[in-house]
Amino acid sequence: MARPLTATIDLEAILYNYRYAKKLQPTCKAFAVVKSNAYGHGAIEVSRYLDDEVDAFAVAAIEEAMSLREAGVKSPILLLEGVFEEDEWHLCEKHGFWSALENAQQLEALTHSKVSIEKVFLKLDSGMHRLGVDKDTAPPFVTALKNSGQVGEVVLMTHFACADDLSDSATLDQLAYFERTRQSLGEPIEASVANSAAIMKWQVPEGGWIRPGIMLYGISPFSEVSGRSIGLRPAMTLSSKVISTRSLRKGDHVGYGLGYVAPEDHVLATVAVGYGDGYPRHAENGTPLQIKGHLASLAGRVSMDMITVRTEEGDVPQMGDEVVLWGGEVPVEDVARHAGTIGYELVTRMTARPHYRYLFGEENA
Ligand SMILES: Cc1ncc(COP(=O)(O)O)c(C=O)c1O
Repeated sequence: MARPLTATIDLEAILYNYRYAKKLQPTCKAFAVVKSNAYGHGAIEVSRYLDDEVDAFAVAAIEEAMSLREAGVKSPILLLEGVFEEDEWHLCEKHGFWSALENAQQLEALTHSKVSIEKVFLKLDSGMHRLGVDKDTAPPFVTALKNSGQVGEVVLMTHFACADDLSDSATLDQLAYFERTRQSLGEPIEASVANSAAIMKWQVPEGGWIRPGIMLYGISPFSEVSGRSIGLRPAMTLSSKVISTRSLRKGDHVGYGLGYVAPEDHVLATVAVGYGDGYPRHAENGTPLQIKGHLASLAGRVSMDMITVRTEEGDVPQMGDEVVLWGGEVPVEDVARHAGTIGYELVTRMTARPHYRYLFGEENA
C-alpha cells in the first residue's frame, strides 16, 4: 500500500478564481501568476488547464517560463524579475516571452542583443524599494525602449508593499506616485499594478494588466480571513490517513522533545504527514485538522514524516481514518496562523513527496 498522503488540486476552482479576478476588474486583462510551481499546485498542470483561457501567464524567471513552453503551454509568459543575462533576451524572442525590466543592465543587455520583444513591463519603484526605477529615471527608460525599435509595447508596472492591509495608506501613496510618473511620460501607457489584495480591495487603474497570484489558488491575501469567506474556491486539499493509534494516560508525553503532555486520558492518532512533505514544523499544539469530518488538533511536535493528533472528546480515531490537513473545512490560512506564517508559504513549500491528484471540471460536476 502506498503512503496515503495526497494533495488534491481542483483545477476547476483555479479557473473559477481566475474568472472571479477578472470580474472584479472587468476593464483589465489578467495574468495568471504561476511562479514557484504555481504556488505549490503544479505549474505545468495548472498552466495547461488554463492555457486557452488566460490572457497570459506570469512566472519569476526564465527557467520557469521554459519549463512551461516545453510542456506545450502556448500563451504569452511574463518574467516578473526580468532577465539575469543577455542570452535570456534571445530566449524571450524565440519563445515569445515578455519581460519586466527594472535596471540599466537589463536595458543595456536588451539593446545589445538586438532582439525583438513584444512587451516590456518597465518596473517602477513606487515605494517598496525592492526593484524598479524611480520617477525621474522612468521617462528616459521609456524613451530608450521606444527608440530602440525592439519593443512592441512598453507597460508601466509597480508592486505594492502593503495592499493586504486596508488601514495602511502606503498603497494610496504608491498609487499616487505611480500615476504622477505615468502622466509625466507624456503619452498614454498601459498600467500593471494589482496583486490579489489590490484586485480584491483597492481601486486600481482601469485597463492594463492585473496580476492575481494567491487568489487563483483560493487562498486569501488577507491573513485574518479565509479565501472561502471572501468568495474564493480553495484549490488544494492536503489529506492523509491515521496510521497508528494508542491510549494515553494523563501526564504521558508525546513526540520529539516530549513536547505534548496529555491533560487527561485520551486516544492519540498518528498521521502520515510531516515537514518532509511541506507540513509546517512550527505548527503548534492545537493546530486544527479534521479526522473523518470531525475537528481534531495537533498534539506534539511535527516530525519529518508523521504528526500526532488528538481528537475531540468522544471521537475515537481508527486506523485508516481519513484526515484533512488543510482544504475543505480546514482553511490553510488557519493552519498557517498556528504555525506563525501565511498561507502563501505553506502551499509554496509543498515538496514532491505527496501524491498529486488533479481534478478536472467534469470530475467535480
Ligand atoms: C510582481 C508580482 N506581481 C504579482 C504577484 C502576485 O501576488 P499575489 O500572490 O499576492 O496575488 C507577485 C507575487 O509575489 C509579484 O511578485
